[in-house]
Amino acid sequence: MGRCAEGAVACSGCCACFLCGLIMMIPSLMLSGYLFWIYFRTFTPSISIEMFEVPALNKTSNGAFNIIDPTITFDLRLKNENLNEGVFYDNVNVTLSYYHANISKFSPIGNKARRVESIQSYGVPWDIAKLEVLNGSTTTFRVDVNTRIKIRHLLALFFSVNTQRTTLDVGVNIPVNDQGIKSVKKGLRMSID
Ligand SMILES: *[C@@H]1O[C@H](CO)[C@@H](O)[C@H](O)[C@H]1NC(C)=O
Ligand SMILES: *[C@@H]1O[C@H](CO)[C@@H](O)[C@H](O)[C@H]1NC(C)=O
Ligand SMILES: *[C@@H]1O[C@H](CO)[C@@H](O)[C@H](O)[C@H]1NC(C)=O
Ligand SMILES: *[C@@H]1O[C@H](CO)[C@@H](O)[C@H](O)[C@H]1NC(C)=O
Repeated sequence: MGRCAEGAVACSGCCACFLCGLIMMIPSLMLSGYLFWIYFRTFTPSISIEMFEVPALNKTSNGAFNIIDPTITFDLRLKNENLNEGVFYDNVNVTLSYYHANISKFSPIGNKARRVESIQSYGVPWDIAKLEVLNGSTTTFRVDVNTRIKIRHLLALFFSVNTQRTTLDVGVNIPVNDQGIKSVKKGLRMSID
């Protein structure tokens, strides 16, 4: 005989049985609550730089830089980690900057509003950047993203849940080496400053 049946005898009746039933339901209630939470929680979408190429800083086999080309190409990945919902981006503003080590400041070198970008940069001090990478070190660029996102919950199908609108302002520093690519293999995830 289990505790439930003993309890039922002690309290004589249906009331206790009912309580017993409720208590036995707790684990399954917790499980469904957990699954509900997993399904409906929201994440800020992850934005990362997967590829970053600066041909002007690509050293040739004889150790010189031949290409005079201000083009910088990068791949911006917008990933939605939410299981359940649509994330919609308004205009995505992308700002590209260069880090001036001498004054510890970034300055803008390009501006666009698309996701896969090939930018004709301006104002990069190429001579200094080349010296920095020749040192076996890296020179630092930065990409900032400024956008408004709408998150539409699946719950909106059942209840009147307001579409969530947020401003997203994130960025990441990108070290570039003497092959003219980011020195880190993995994608660089943007974060809030
Ligand atoms: C660098 O140069 C090599 C060959 O010279 C080329 O294969 C490679 O794609 C170049 N990389 C970039 C980032 O331009
Ligand atoms: C710092 O370096 C930049 C080029 O990267 C140059 O234009 C600027 O004049 C330098 N500033 C100082 C204070 O040396
Ligand atoms: C090159 O590296 C040396 C030693 O690490 C450093 O003192 C120097 O400032 C570097 N030069 C440039 C241009 O970054
Ligand atoms: C993006 O840039 C444009 C032009 O500079 C500006 O009008 C717009 O408000 C910006 N969008 C965001 C979300 O900041």
